[in-house]
Amino acid sequence: MPSFFTLLACSLAAAGASLVSASPIEARGSCTFTTAAAAKAGKAGCSSIVLSNIAVPAGTTLDLTGLKSGTHVTFEGTTTFGYEEWAGPLISMSGTSITVSGASGHLINCDGSRWWDGKGTNGKKKPKFFYAHDLDSSSITGLQIKNTPLMAFSIEANDITLTDITINNADGDSLGGHNTDAFDVGNSVGVNIIKPWVHNQDDCLAINSGENIYFTGGTCIGGHGLSIGSIGGRSDNTVKNVTIEHSTVSNSENAVRIKTISGATGSVSDVKYTNIVMSGITDYGVVIQQDYEDGKPTGDPTNGVSITDITLDGVTGSVASGATEVYLLCGSGSCKDWTWENVQVTGGKKSSACKNYPSVASC
Ligand SMILES: *[C@@H]1O[C@H](CO)[C@@H](O)[C@H](O)[C@H]1NC(C)=O
Repeated sequence: MPSFFTLLACSLAAAGASLVSASPIEARGSCTFTTAAAAKAGKAGCSSIVLSNIAVPAGTTLDLTGLKSGTHVTFEGTTTFGYEEWAGPLISMSGTSITVSGASGHLINCDGSRWWDGKGTNGKKKPKFFYAHDLDSSSITGLQIKNTPLMAFSIEANDITLTDITINNADGDSLGGHNTDAFDVGNSVGVNIIKPWVHNQDDCLAINSGENIYFTGGTCIGGHGLSIGSIGGRSDNTVKNVTIEHSTVSNSENAVRIKTISGATGSVSDVKYTNIVMSGITDYGVVIQQDYEDGKPTGDPTNGVSITDITLDGVTGSVASGATEVYLLCGSGSCKDWTWENVQVTGGKKSSACKNYPSVASC
């Protein structure tokens, strides 16, 4: 068993300084950790953390919560996780002004196929991947992530930017990946997701509550599309000021989706979907519906969650022949002030069940 001090290789970051008699725990320096336990024990003493080839033990979180303000975290080599049926998360990080990146050639390989059973949140208990809760004024850049067991990023943070994140769960298409949402956003003000590349089996983006959310340059393959909702029935039921733009959605169930809970209250306002290009959509190209109950549509919309100031500008492309191009099912008076420009979805069926949608839209 190596001792703690051999696992915690610390050096002082200040120019010219050297490790003399200072205890490495007190040093505010560069720390390279090779085990999850050492990272957890030593993180508070480091301004720069390298996580080098860490094999996280089964049933354990790579715990990077409570980092000191300004800490830089780098994933290096391959990060892996032992197998256990548990809720996770596999990684958790919190702090202020944290910058997270990956060294060239790194991979965070969750090896999710060990958990996949086609049942997602049902079936075997599966760990979520990454909690970015209270990771404020922070950035995560360039991470390469493979085969998450279940949802990838759970974001509950203020002023956070995720750039160039790759979530490649393509193996889940044939091996039973399910509910592998890429980015779940809730209770957040100021979330920027820039140029993500995602191949998964659930929402590419799912916003459950929050304000000032920006998603741009996304490539979304294989999942359920760019979603807001289901809204209603949570502690926070407000979604406001969302821009989703310049993204492609392919081989997915839906491209653009807003859904709200039947009988609930809340609001979805000031949402723009701009320049979204879809292909190979199997359910709905554009779907806005106010009839969700227990995770399923009832067909009977209610008006307690308003959907106002919604813009679709440049939402184009094709759906599969059995899919519905546009489906708009609103409660009485709850969908208003929409802008609908250059929405051209082709290749599928027209819906005959649309209700109560603003006259600028077409169904
Ligand atoms: C809306 O959100 C964007 C970030 O996407 C932010 O820059 C802008 O200031 C927000 N607008 C308001 C009125 O808060």
